Amino acid sequence: MSDLVIKPSRGLGGEITLPGDKSISHRAVLFSAIAEGDTAINGFLNGEDTRNTAKAVQAMGIAVEGLGTERLVVRGKGLDGLTEPSDVLDLGNSGTGMRLMAGLLAGQRFFSVLSGDQYLRKRPMARIVEPLRRMGAIIDGRSQAKLAPLSIRGGALKPIEYDSPVASAQVKSALLLAGLYASGATSVQEPSKSRDHTERLFRFFGLDVKEEGTTVTVRGRQRLRSPGPLDIPADLSSAAFFIVAASIVPASDVIIKNVGVNPTRTGVIDVLLQMGADITLDNQREQAGEPVADIRVRFRKLKGVRINGSLIPRAIDEIPILAVAASYASGKTVIKDAAELRVKESDRISTMAAELRKMGVNVSELPDGMEIMGRDMLDGAVCESNGDHRIAMSMAVAGLAASGDTVIRDIGWIDTSFPGFERILRQAAYS
Ligand code: S3P
Repeated sequence: MSDLVIKPSRGLGGEITLPGDKSISHRAVLFSAIAEGDTAINGFLNGEDTRNTAKAVQAMGIAVEGLGTERLVVRGKGLDGLTEPSDVLDLGNSGTGMRLMAGLLAGQRFFSVLSGDQYLRKRPMARIVEPLRRMGAIIDGRSQAKLAPLSIRGGALKPIEYDSPVASAQVKSALLLAGLYASGATSVQEPSKSRDHTERLFRFFGLDVKEEGTTVTVRGRQRLRSPGPLDIPADLSSAAFFIVAASIVPASDVIIKNVGVNPTRTGVIDVLLQMGADITLDNQREQAGEPVADIRVRFRKLKGVRINGSLIPRAIDEIPILAVAASYASGKTVIKDAAELRVKESDRISTMAAELRKMGVNVSELPDGMEIMGRDMLDGAVCESNGDHRIAMSMAVAGLAASGDTVIRDIGWIDTSFPGFERILRQAAYS
């Protein structure tokens, strides 16, 4: 278990280059595996979560070259090219890996078992098991298949029209992947729009995907064709730590290069702009069907806001770092409609409240969010990762503008999504 010691920063500066997008990296490997032909993926996130997805694909007979680097070549074998894995597929800490993989496996005529670490084995799986069973997959698991390990015996599926109770890109993507193995059109409707990387990447692989409001439909048995090189932009969720850091540490001025700015992900930028942040998007362009920009951020004192409704799915992974921004803002910030945070890598409402309190912040927990009273300066403290990469990184950023040193314990978790975080942070914050 290693610790990270954060000293107060006198301002972040320079150009920052970050690792590839996690959501797109998972999908790039999965879709390449069932495409016809070889796909070169550049900017693949070489983190534990996405490596586990690539290893699972290898365990089903797909050659993946370059694993352990950011440049992969996946030798796809088409829709029916996967073979039965000889062992349990271990998705580690990744909810996205497990849920998307379950959707893909539901369409395979073989037996498979999915498992993960102690945190992933506590996260809800009924949200995918129930609709995948309705499509005809035979799935079992712990606690009436509410929890992993899950066993799956897939095959030819029936299409469904699914009205999802949660706005979840993992649920939507699992069902759309299963829908490729169904005899007819599968559609998923969600209460508000979750990230649409699956829809965009399906199109990049040549599939016909229909979208109407918050309903997405895909016809079964469409063949994916390897596109040209698939260049993955940097992860906005990783950039968010630096966007907030530069916003709260006086004298900061940074440019974060080549970041994905898909509108279903940019809730964090919208919220920070409402808080008064100084953020500009430059050099906007498109890459592999995704909008990309360079993001410039300069320090500016923030003010408290209300974060709720359809903003929540567009900022779901950034609520912990937004809670840090709120802790340094003037006045009160209220976060509502975010009960989903309780079933992420940790219960992010209670873990963030507990860690911020250690730094002297006045936080009250709500069933679906929190209320935070901002302060000019937080107190350095000893904080815990709680087995959650985003909590560890959020508290590190909180430490940059605090009085005295902040220690983050057990920072190994950061490697699930952001290898190189400490090096990049040190370079931006102290040089
Ligand atoms: C993800 C979807 C989100 C997000 C997760 C990645 C994805 O979860 O929290 O980190 O890649 O599909 P839900 O949309 O299921 O809430």
